[in-house]
Amino acid sequence: MTDLYAKAGEAAEFIRAQYTHSLETVVVLGSGLGSFADDLEKSVRIPYETIPHFAASTVAGHAGQLVLGQIDGIHVAVQQGRFHYYEGYEMEKVTFPMRTFGRLGIKNVILTNAAGSLNTDMTPGSLMLITDHLNCMGVNPLRGQNDDRFGPRFPDMTSVYDKRFQEVVVSAANQIAKERFESGLEKEPVDFLHRGVYCALSGPTYETPAEIHFYRLLGADAVGMSTVPEAIVARHQGMKVIGISCISNFGAGMTSEAIDHAEVMETGARVSELFRQLLRRVVNRISG
Ligand code: HPA
Repeated sequence: MTDLYAKAGEAAEFIRAQYTHSLETVVVLGSGLGSFADDLEKSVRIPYETIPHFAASTVAGHAGQLVLGQIDGIHVAVQQGRFHYYEGYEMEKVTFPMRTFGRLGIKNVILTNAAGSLNTDMTPGSLMLITDHLNCMGVNPLRGQNDDRFGPRFPDMTSVYDKRFQEVVVSAANQIAKERFESGLEKEPVDFLHRGVYCALSGPTYETPAEIHFYRLLGADAVGMSTVPEAIVARHQGMKVIGISCISNFGAGMTSEAIDHAEVMETGARVSELFRQLLRRVVNRISG
């Protein structure tokens, strides 16, 4: 079978046989942010390599499994680890899980990632709500013959990141900031959620300082190596998308330090508690 629609249907059927509850929302967890999956109750874990047509994830810090379970009584799917273009996968493989989620009937997508900051006000350890993106990967996952059963040939990208859902994330973050202040965790309500444009690059190299300068001029607030292919495919299928970046470092050349993957993972671990709280509230508010 070569038909992508049929393949995604097969993967969806395989998943449905192991988790029969209907699912409305999927959360895709980025580098160092995998711990949210541990918050799920009565969960079923499905390693990617067992799912028909899924590739096997290879990057350190990406577990490579689908976790299905409940959070506050809401059934959610969590993608713990994703497939990246820099790993050598074709875009069809990178976005295959999103095709599968579409075939599962999932309507809401929360995409998360680790990203470098291009904005001096946005320090490592803060979060950025993605308001729009720049696809600088040099490829588009929809290239090739269009299958109208998924969506239109020329999908509109005017509002990739759902406006109403953006408001939900901002209000959940404000509430968390207020509670952290009131419980004495912070000396003042800390506005940890920034908003900005995410620029996707193919990687696997981090950028040069000249490239960072270039992407700043283009209007990017953060750079990373994922998310945009999935966002495009999700929109193609009419799903609603939220994007949240965990800022792990400043872009190359913005400080005297070099960038390394360990630092990216460490920052993810440091903000994971805040991140988990935010995701939990957002899932609650957008469901039902
Ligand atoms: N550049 C690209 N991708 C990233 C970065 C970065 O600085 N940090 C985390 N992912």
